[in-house]
Amino acid sequence: MSKDVYRLIGPGGNEMELPIRTGTAGPDVIDIGALYKTKGVFTYDPGFVSTGSCESDITFIDGEKGVLMYRGYPVEQLAEHSSFLEVSYLLLHGDLPTASEIEKFEQTIRRHTMLNEGMLNFFKGFRYDAHPMAMLSAVVGSMSAYYHNVMDASNPEHRDIFAHRILAKLPTIAAAAYKLNIGQPFIYPRNDLNYSENLLHMLFAVPAEPYEIDEVASEALDLLFILHADHEQNCSTSTVRMAGSSGANPYSAIAAGISALWGPAHGGANEAVLEMLEQIGDTSQIKKYVEKAKDKSDPFRLMGFGHRVYKNFDPRATIIQDMCHKVLQRLDRKDTPLFDLAQELEQVALKDDYFIEKNLYPNVDFYSGIIYKALGIPTSMFTVMFALGRSVGWAAHWREMIADPAAKIARPRQLYTGPAQRNYTPIEKR
Ligand code: CMC
Repeated sequence: MSKDVYRLIGPGGNEMELPIRTGTAGPDVIDIGALYKTKGVFTYDPGFVSTGSCESDITFIDGEKGVLMYRGYPVEQLAEHSSFLEVSYLLLHGDLPTASEIEKFEQTIRRHTMLNEGMLNFFKGFRYDAHPMAMLSAVVGSMSAYYHNVMDASNPEHRDIFAHRILAKLPTIAAAAYKLNIGQPFIYPRNDLNYSENLLHMLFAVPAEPYEIDEVASEALDLLFILHADHEQNCSTSTVRMAGSSGANPYSAIAAGISALWGPAHGGANEAVLEMLEQIGDTSQIKKYVEKAKDKSDPFRLMGFGHRVYKNFDPRATIIQDMCHKVLQRLDRKDTPLFDLAQELEQVALKDDYFIEKNLYPNVDFYSGIIYKALGIPTSMFTVMFALGRSVGWAAHWREMIADPAAKIARPRQLYTGPAQRNYTPIEKR
């Protein structure tokens, strides 16, 4: 077989050569773009298990080796040395910033943190117990109403401003949703604080007394945002690309991504993990729940375990587990039953044949909720925290897609299995 083509042999020995494309790293891809035109067949791959949907320079994952890199930098190095805003710059612009570039970028993000005052009225329409992910998606969607005429996707400057607004305003919207849930007044952003400090201030400050920002909490949040910042063509990012591919307003494309993230198979897993740990309750119950997870007639799954791409370990989970130790120690939390339970559950699952055979390891969501909980962030806000980190990845992918001259409207085909053509029957004859 030739090195740079893939030979497809169809019925009756009908042959076709398909070009192979090689990236910087990762498996080659077979370019099947001409398949339908030439041979009249589609490919079939539910869930896109073997399908590359685009070309991208942003993030690389090697699921077999547990590697994750943003723009070529291993996530472990970024987690150790960088900050969320520096990583955001890297994802959006392709390279690490110089000192003056990061200073300018941080100033820009700090200056975009306020919401149009009218946007706050949306929160008055939600019931006190509305889920914050529903509010986040709805209010971010409403940004398309505020920034419609001023958003020209063909203008690179507008694309930059869009990315800055998304990054800067999401924490303000998230905190407003939380304040509605707990019946406290909305707290305005403070532009003298850094990204994570400002979020903590908007979440936990009250007008009646001064609020002291906990350095441990802001460091932990910053790290979690770095780890969540991008993950190539995951479900929510693909949703943003797909919605954006029609030329839709990018704020509504991000709202669609937030909705996709909310599902328990994706970002909603962090909330589901905490609920699961609370349901398990005690180490004596672990075996019972592991058996339930293995039982195909039982819908229960071990939340925070397994990943479509990682078949060895999720490098983010390892970093988060270490951070968990640090946060709990530094917050002087000696009583850590949920963390102890999670660690024991991990050990039991990792030694179990079912989990070994299926390559199921703890993922990013397994330990993140324990940190959020220790920081006083309620369970319903966990996926919102994920969304804040991932917002920059969504913006980077939308920008990449819009600027790509080869980009087309995303429009998959199908294998139709419905009725063959039939004639309309008048109602009296049915
Ligand atoms: N508990 C028990 N069995 C599992 C689990 C689990 N957590 N995950 C996968 N399996 C089994 C599954 O039943 C299937 O078995 P079989 O081959 O016998 O049918 C096999 O492992 C492969 O699973 P799959 O569902 O076909 O794999 P997938 O790549 O489509 O799904 C996943 C990946 C993450 C949706 C899945 O592992 C899962 O539901 N995990 C729990 C939810 C979770 O933690 N999600 C967060 C993902 S990481 C954060 C993010 O990217 O958003």
